[in-house]
Amino acid sequence: MFYRAQQMRWGGENVRRAMSNSGQKVVLITGCSSGIGLRMAVMLAKDEKQRYHVIATMRDLKRKDKLVEAAGDAYGKSLSLAVLDVCTDESVKQCINGIKDRHVDVLINNAGIGLVGPVESISIAEMKSVFETNFFGVIRMIKEVMPDMKKRRGGHIIVVSSVMGLQGVVFNDVYAASKFAMEGFCECLAVQLLKFNVTMSMIEPGPVHTEFESKMIQDVRQKEFPGADADTVNYFKNVYLPSSVDIFETLGQTPDDIARVSPPVIEQGSSARFRNLTNPLYTPIVALKYADETGGLSVHAFYHMLFNLGPLMHVSMKAMQYLTCGCLRSRTVSPN
Ligand SMILES: NC(=O)c1ccc[n+]([C@@H]2O[C@H](COP(=O)([O-])OP(=O)(O)OC[C@H]3O[C@@H](n4cnc5c(N)ncnc54)[C@H](OP(=O)(O)O)[C@@H]3O)[C@@H](O)[C@H]2O)c1
Repeated sequence: MFYRAQQMRWGGENVRRAMSNSGQKVVLITGCSSGIGLRMAVMLAKDEKQRYHVIATMRDLKRKDKLVEAAGDAYGKSLSLAVLDVCTDESVKQCINGIKDRHVDVLINNAGIGLVGPVESISIAEMKSVFETNFFGVIRMIKEVMPDMKKRRGGHIIVVSSVMGLQGVVFNDVYAASKFAMEGFCECLAVQLLKFNVTMSMIEPGPVHTEFESKMIQDVRQKEFPGADADTVNYFKNVYLPSSVDIFETLGQTPDDIARVSPPVIEQGSSARFRNLTNPLYTPIVALKYADETGGLSVHAFYHMLFNLGPLMHVSMKAMQYLTCGCLRSRTVSPN
């Protein structure tokens, strides 16, 4: 038996935690109650070569059922659960202190929240809460795990960022800003960490069909957008939202598409790429930005696409969807 399993009691829940003491890599993932985090945890825990022991974390263990069901036999063997809220210092510390020797080989920062809408209608408190999770949440995790990695001269920090961490998208101002901030932070840290044999990798998905999308749509439906003028609300609701739904429908990937990127990124170790775009259809959009240092090309291209080509885009997306029978949804670029 490769693991020393122990039962711990946290927050009134029985938490089964198994610590790898073989050559397996200990992989800690944040935000595993749904979506990308859940599928990454399951895929790594069910790895055929049994290379990983996964500590799947979530802020509320009442949400563990989908993960436990998907993990099947791996639960309690190569997958253990722990409570972790990335917005709380104490929760982060308690989780990492509960791991044998605080040893984490691979930290996958996945937990994140979205926010769309006219800036005028979003309070500063709402904006701060996006940064608290998407930016400070990741930093909190890195600050807790990185010193041990540096001491051991080994480790891998992976961040689930977004295409919106590289290219802004209209009405996603605050979400994109939180991911841009993360990209900048990681670009700086990656250089220093090389000196300690610690690798930093970003995974940058485009649209993915998860609760992220449904939570945002539900949130938008409930909102009145106070403070935003009628024209802006009209552009948001009647121009941006329909295009966004089309784009998700046509180009959206599955959480498994994104999860499949994680084993090769981990296995490449110190030679892993820093950036890993998961959807090849977004590569030209990112290239556009770097092709013109004035920034005008991207700003005007996006304006033209949204306001002048909106109806045409809708028709093209529908045609694309029809012609490809939805096959584009499963296209993933491997970082290999
Ligand atoms: N879906 C997309 O289109 C898309 C595209 C690009 C990048 N991403 C990124 O992918 C990552 C995962 O998103 P997803 O699409 O899988 O969405 P999701 O299904 O909504 O999953 C987000 C996860 O983050 C967790 N989370 C939120 N706040 C947390 C906190 N304070 N502490 C710990 N966990 C917390 C959620 O837990 P609860 O269940 O407790 O809320 C949930 O498990 C995010 O970083 C997102 O920005 C998503």
